[in-house]
Amino acid sequence: MSSDQSLRINDLCKSYGGAPVLDRFSLRVAPGEFVALLGPSGAGKTTLLRCVAGLIAPDSGEIMLGRQPMHLLTGAALRRARHDIGFVFQQFNLVRRRTALGNVLTGRLSDVALWRIVLGRFPDADRRAAFSALERVGLLDQAWQRADSLSGGQQQRVAIARALVQRSRLMLADEPVASLDPAAAESVLSLLREVAREHEMSVLCSLHQPALAERYADRICAIAAARGPLTIA
Ligand SMILES: Nc1ncnc2c1ncn2[C@@H]1O[C@H](COP(=O)(O)OP(=O)(O)O)[C@@H](O)[C@H]1O
Ligand SMILES: [Mg+2]
Repeated sequence: MSSDQSLRINDLCKSYGGAPVLDRFSLRVAPGEFVALLGPSGAGKTTLLRCVAGLIAPDSGEIMLGRQPMHLLTGAALRRARHDIGFVFQQFNLVRRRTALGNVLTGRLSDVALWRIVLGRFPDADRRAAFSALERVGLLDQAWQRADSLSGGQQQRVAIARALVQRSRLMLADEPVASLDPAAAESVLSLLREVAREHEMSVLCSLHQPALAERYADRICAIAAARGPLTIA
């Protein structure tokens, strides 16, 4: 396993209107590792994840995903780099009117010719990969169901399947279980941990429940607004 594939965040600073949210925040997530970002509301968890995704620019510091400097990329280069990243958010981020299968296939979009997307024709290999990912997350029977007819936990599983067909190296999950009942929350976190190991995927997952972080994460990074990280075990 090459350490070069890690996510490395060094001395990241971000403030809003002079109020610092991240102050020289550093963190490393190795391939296959599940790191929980644990902190109360307002601690800067979403801000950090948005910086890593290249959705907002940090004031200073660097974010390396493998060899790619996420903090420096823009335009097409940033879009390409983002293709290595899977996303699971608290508010379910699927296309509501599409089927579970259709949502998983969007993980292949940037690899597929535009005319195929317009006609809804994905190559057979992509369909096989999508079915296989749905099977992995336990949703093969729901492949043809519309995303908005699925439960919250099932929708998060579809988002995980989408990252699998995308062959993401990094999964960013922003409070992915905040809207789920306890049983669904546990099953989504346990699935995230399993796929991290199976696919050597780095997972950075924000949570505000210490008990869940302790049970599922390989490592916990506690975050408090404008203070440095405190790494526990
Ligand atoms: N776009 C923004 N403009 C101004 N302040 C913001 C913005 N986004 C977040 N903040 C502030 O930054 C702090 C951290 O927010 P956030 O990253 O959302 O924390 P968390 O996800 O841990 O709840 C909060 O005080 C929040 O009000
Ligand atoms: Mg947040």
